Amino acid sequence: MKIAIIIGSTRPGRKGEAVARWVHDIAAKRGDAQYEIVDIADFALPHMDEPFPPMMGRYSRPHSHVWAEKIASYDGFVFVTPEYNHAPGGALKNAIDYLFAEWNHKAAAFVGYGASGGVRAVEHLRLILANCAVATVRPQVELSLFHDFAEMTHFTPGAHQEPAVGAMLDELVLWSDALKPIREAKAAV
Ligand SMILES: Cc1cc2nc3c(=O)[nH]c(=O)nc-3n(C[C@H](O)[C@H](O)[C@H](O)COP(=O)(O)O)c2cc1C
Repeated sequence: MKIAIIIGSTRPGRKGEAVARWVHDIAAKRGDAQYEIVDIADFALPHMDEPFPPMMGRYSRPHSHVWAEKIASYDGFVFVTPEYNHAPGGALKNAIDYLFAEWNHKAAAFVGYGASGGVRAVEHLRLILANCAVATVRPQVELSLFHDFAEMTHFTPGAHQEPAVGAMLDELVLWSDALKPIREAKAAV
């Protein structure tokens, strides 16, 4: 089982990188899956530039193929997302929009951060990913800019947050595994 921890911000000085590394450190101790950080900044995706909707599976740009190959290699995802104007950032939405089949019949979990724990961004992501045939698990991690970041800058998660990551990953691994027969059946067609 391979799980990607996707950094949903590409902003210089972003908080997302520290949050994703913390999630990875917790996840790596579990031994129930192979957890990897995926940084969308590494893929330099331009604003959506494919001529056909991704659900047609006719990718033409080299960057689309590289991104597709990366996402196809995972069984599940943890989206680490900031909240920009009550939604996920544009870079993450764009990265999701680039693909379709590579997301299908997989599970996703969320670590949000913001003034209100990033909950509004996560709600948006649940709707977006529903259209990509992604099953989203209920437990989520909500990091407060006021309580989990010293001076609203340095990441200092509260003690209760690590168990919250554990509960979220428990469910994510179960659901990623449960959907495997569907992925295999679809791949065999
Ligand atoms: C364009 C923009 C819009 C924002 N809107 C919100 C918001 O609606 N709600 C919120 O809680 N925080 C908001 N913030 C604050 C972010 O949560 C905070 O800057 C956070 O550090 C962004 O994540 P990042 O550092 O990983 O990019 C906004 C920040 C930016 C840059």
